Amino acid sequence: MSTDVDKNINPESYFDDEDPHFDNDARLILTQYSGIPEPSLVPHVRAIRDKAFKLFPYPCIGLYSFLAFTIAKSPQYPEILRRVKQGETLLDLGCCFGQDLRRLVFDGAPASGLTGVELERGFLDLGYEFLLDRGRFCVPLLAGDFFGPIPGLEKGSFDMVHAAFFFHLFSWDEQVQAVAKALQLLKPKKGPMLFGRQVRVEEAGAIRHPDSRSGEMYWHNVESWKGLVALVSRQVGVEVDCEVVCYEGGNQRSTDAVEMMRFVVVLR
Ligand SMILES: C[S@@+](CC[C@H](N)C(=O)[O-])C[C@H]1O[C@@H](n2cnc3c(N)ncnc32)[C@H](O)[C@@H]1O
Repeated sequence: MSTDVDKNINPESYFDDEDPHFDNDARLILTQYSGIPEPSLVPHVRAIRDKAFKLFPYPCIGLYSFLAFTIAKSPQYPEILRRVKQGETLLDLGCCFGQDLRRLVFDGAPASGLTGVELERGFLDLGYEFLLDRGRFCVPLLAGDFFGPIPGLEKGSFDMVHAAFFFHLFSWDEQVQAVAKALQLLKPKKGPMLFGRQVRVEEAGAIRHPDSRSGEMYWHNVESWKGLVALVSRQVGVEVDCEVVCYEGGNQRSTDAVEMMRFVVVLR
């Protein structure tokens, strides 16, 4: 298994009109929500990606997958959007630029029900520069380390927690802590959910990664992820249903192609 997940990502921009992530949804948001003229889209996206990649070289930044506004690609998106419009609350964990939160707002979700949390304040700042909405995007974006205390993240305060490309950044023990905290942020009743997506591998296990928090990340297969969720839910004293769907990853421009999984963990 690779020990260096970033090695095939070009540090220089190579983005163009043909990029697989530059789909109609992305164009619509950038032109209609952000008001960026068509001819300026490619240089604008390139400039943001390059600044962000210098802050931290995450594959989702290097490979432009932030442009996919992936929350909307989830089969649960219509339900998620309906629930937020009806007054439920949603936290985006490791929200990066806050692009998925902008997608929800673009689709009519009230900002009052949304919150983002992100370790790197620089990504949050770049989000305003990327989507040109400083002063009109009112969703609270909390800068902080999810493993520590963050004012505004009180136990039992969210109906939904979204975690895209987040848990796989951490070791097994860190994921146990992070999933426990995410489940405890959910309102203690039937129906609240933790959902998102992450890398999937055939054989679950730890990989060394020098840029990760503890020097190690644990990548799951379906069984190991369900096992971790079962373990953590017992530890925090909640009953859950955990559904996982596998799909092909979209790293067409990296030779290190990876499979993905979507997960939905619903409190019973
Ligand atoms: C791989 S990116 C995924 C970003 C976004 N969710 C997406 O799907 O494009 C992971 C994000 O989690 C953030 N992150 C990493 N560790 C964190 C922590 N301990 N607390 C909060 N955010 C963290 C990173 O800065 C980064 O923006």
